[in-house]
Amino acid sequence: MNKQEIIDILSNETTNERLFQEADKIRHEYVGDEVHLRGLIEFSNICKRQCKYCGLRSPNNEVERYRILKDEIILYSKKARDMGYKTIVLQSGEDDYYDTDKMCQIIRDIKKLDVALTLSIGEKTFDEYNAYKKAGADRYLLRIETTDRNLYEDMHPNASFENRIQCLYDLKELGYEVGTGCLVGLPNQSIESLADDIIFFKELNADMIGIGPFIPHKQTPLKDAKQGDFWLALKVMALTRINLPDINIPATTAMETINPNGRIIALQSGANVVMPNVTSLEYRSKYEIYPDKACINETPEHSKNDIKLKIKSIGRTISNDYGYRNK
Ligand code: 5AD
Repeated sequence: MNKQEIIDILSNETTNERLFQEADKIRHEYVGDEVHLRGLIEFSNICKRQCKYCGLRSPNNEVERYRILKDEIILYSKKARDMGYKTIVLQSGEDDYYDTDKMCQIIRDIKKLDVALTLSIGEKTFDEYNAYKKAGADRYLLRIETTDRNLYEDMHPNASFENRIQCLYDLKELGYEVGTGCLVGLPNQSIESLADDIIFFKELNADMIGIGPFIPHKQTPLKDAKQGDFWLALKVMALTRINLPDINIPATTAMETINPNGRIIALQSGANVVMPNVTSLEYRSKYEIYPDKACINETPEHSKNDIKLKIKSIGRTISNDYGYRNK
């Protein structure tokens, strides 16, 4: 689709049902009915950045900060593997405590568990990405957040838009499966720029795309901003499926947070991945990127069983393989 076609669909409310059905059909044809579950470990909520929308931004003094050290990360990884997860996702704020050596040790130990490993730890140098890859990391998630340069610069004080893009191309060059994505509903975000986001995903040939509505957090400068619209986020996701038919697309926790059936609706509108949390409750509530995160009071066992039942109830199955992109 060209930009104008994407804009037309994003601005038209009467074609929504057809769009979601078409995305569901393409999902079925290209990636099948299996849903891939990824076990998410949020191992540190310490972050040096100041992203205006994020509850973990460094100026927020009201969060109780934590770091999970290597042995405990390995413990959660083993538990996730034993629960049947084939992919572990390690996510954190940009926390320099975990230098290249520490990260590579963690990566090597997790890779002994016969799982695919995804990192989501922010902007690093080419050499750092290279070291993680050599240590065994398979995939990397780094959302562009928005391709509107002015909005990007406004939302991310002291950050470089060029560097964000460079990181994504570095990751591609190093042979990672690369995940990116955007927020939908940031203040002053235009429909045109959402169309540009989708075109950017295609240009990058991203392997995974995560899309979620913006949710205002009380301890951020955007506390009084309007929440992103669930249906608009779903439309961006469905259009992403149609334009990149063979990639992996998660039904995101942010969608579940603002719509009690958000993940299932997403799985029926183009998504084929869910990322349940596998850390213990004490950490989950502190990893408050946005407020009232879905599943925050669930144990890992509960999260997994609940989503499994829901997935089966819509006639889909749980995948037993690593869930790489099938090109
Ligand atoms: N609302 C929704 N999503 C958010 N993220 C960060 N803060 C918020 C918020 N307030 C998303 C960003 C980031 C991902 C880990 O969480 O897109 O890449």
